[in-house]
Amino acid sequence: MCGIIGITSNKPVSSSILHSLKKLEYRGYDSAGIATIDNGNINEVKSLGRVEVLEKNISQINLEGYIGIGHVRWATHGMPSTINAHPHSTENISVVHNGIIENSINLKNLLIKKGHKFKSETDTEVIVHLLSEYMKSNELNETIIKTLNDLEGSFALGIIFKDIPNIIVGARRGSPLAVGYGPNENYLGSDSYALKSMTNKITYLNDGEFCVIKKEEIDFFDHLGKKINKKVLQLSSNELNYEKGEYKHYMAKEIDEQPSTIKNCINEYVDKINNEINLLNFPWNKEQIKSVKLIGCGTAFHSCLMGKYWFEELTNLDVDVDIASEFRYRKNKFKEDCLYIFVSQSGETADTYAALNLCKKNKVKTCSIINVVESSIARDSDFVLPIHCGPEIGVASTKAFLGQMLVIYLLCLKISILMKDIKREDYDKKIRNLGLLSDLVKKTILDENQIQSISNTFAEAKGSMFLGRGFSYPIALEGALKLKELAYIHAEGYPAGEMKHGPLALIEDGMPVVVIAPKDDYYKKTISNMQEVIARGAKVLLLTNKDVNQIVSENIWQIIKIETTNDDLYPFLTTIPLQKLAYFTALKKGHDIDKPRNLAKSVTVE
Ligand code: AGP
Repeated sequence: MCGIIGITSNKPVSSSILHSLKKLEYRGYDSAGIATIDNGNINEVKSLGRVEVLEKNISQINLEGYIGIGHVRWATHGMPSTINAHPHSTENISVVHNGIIENSINLKNLLIKKGHKFKSETDTEVIVHLLSEYMKSNELNETIIKTLNDLEGSFALGIIFKDIPNIIVGARRGSPLAVGYGPNENYLGSDSYALKSMTNKITYLNDGEFCVIKKEEIDFFDHLGKKINKKVLQLSSNELNYEKGEYKHYMAKEIDEQPSTIKNCINEYVDKINNEINLLNFPWNKEQIKSVKLIGCGTAFHSCLMGKYWFEELTNLDVDVDIASEFRYRKNKFKEDCLYIFVSQSGETADTYAALNLCKKNKVKTCSIINVVESSIARDSDFVLPIHCGPEIGVASTKAFLGQMLVIYLLCLKISILMKDIKREDYDKKIRNLGLLSDLVKKTILDENQIQSISNTFAEAKGSMFLGRGFSYPIALEGALKLKELAYIHAEGYPAGEMKHGPLALIEDGMPVVVIAPKDDYYKKTISNMQEVIARGAKVLLLTNKDVNQIVSENIWQIIKIETTNDDLYPFLTTIPLQKLAYFTALKKGHDIDKPRNLAKSVTVE
């Protein structure tokens, strides 16, 4: 999962490419590079590390050129290094690539036999050599088609040619690619976010398509080279400017935005006058759905798991959840009366997208819950429920998690009333309670002094555990994931009742353990499990709610009390202190909060 950009213009492009690369850094940040064509030559600059290093290097050499491509890398083949950084160039052609070429070793051997010399360890380099090979005896479009046909795997490509110095070729299979239209210039980018500062007019390439971009026009072709027309989309203005403002990190901003993203989302779906959830054109009736299956990765998977608990509680449907990377390779039994729900912030996660495509091939009902409405998953699903959170830039997902849970909860409530699995008065009450959620989240966010001081202990810990039962179990998993990815501390999320079956052996004197136990149906059981870890020396941080007056143990290290609400909604509140715990712990350890090591926001490779 890397980021690519291309610009052809009537003015020098390197500074605009650098600007867009900074926007794309959330996709990869171990190295970066640019190639432009100037004075009949391809000039390439690459650096190890962040875009700011590349920027410094470029400022010393003055990189000219009215056409160019750029790349931020998240290493797959070959370690992060200047040589492995993109673009990869021969004398005549330069390429940037997002994806993985699965047959690169075979292709490389064939090309070496033909006399090609390779410099890097990357899979990408075969693409530029293949292009050079085919270019010897073919026109441009034939060269592109033949090259793409030879490649196995996934790719989004940006290509420039020394001998055709006015075009950028873009091509896509599996990995996302957008094209943007500007005044006397046109663009290519991994996503619309990279192009937003330059244009709000965007077209997305579909799998198998390629395009030839000139500064005054763009031509699109299908996989056979037949010219096709594409629709130009206009991005909404509130998506265009999303900056950190006075915040030090996007993550802090995104945590604080949660009350308003919750409110927005509820406003989109809840008709307050009629106290009704509106799923606008939901295409299936109650006879057509007998079960649901929720599929996602990482944090999105945790919201799916949360969905399982809600669907089981509020409907009589069979519910199942799956991790997309597992689902896509298993021998699944596809059911006509099952609704397959794909949850993804980016809508571009390769495993989730592949799982969706598998369902489409098997002609079952697909619905996606996504944040980026122009994304591949959104475009290819039968029905889309956006979470309406606005851009999420921090690699660690925060507001999108709450948004995903909220939309899953709304969908679940709606299905439950349609199926008559819930009484009207209970349904009405639950909708009214949702009206209070934004304020409850806000109050929970404001309370942070205690978490700041608790994070000192976590910052020094070698490992920790997060325990919960029922609705709090998915939140335990999410809390542990946040701490892992931001603070680089080993953290296990576990169902509290499972501890005695093995993990209890991990507890040592002073080990910080988070126990999530709001006063719901599971409270007493969880508190018993808490005693078991305290008895073995754990330092317990208990997360419960304000109405719990009598806490059953004197040996609890810290207690954080969130607002009291109805049981269904506690997950929205218990998540907040855990987001902050991970944030402050990572801050204490001096980590890069928005770009944790080894990760990227949008995981567009397997
Ligand atoms: C969470 O903090 C992660 N960055 C990660 O687990 C993420 O949720 C996962 O990669 C799925 O991404 P998606 O929602 O864009 O599909």
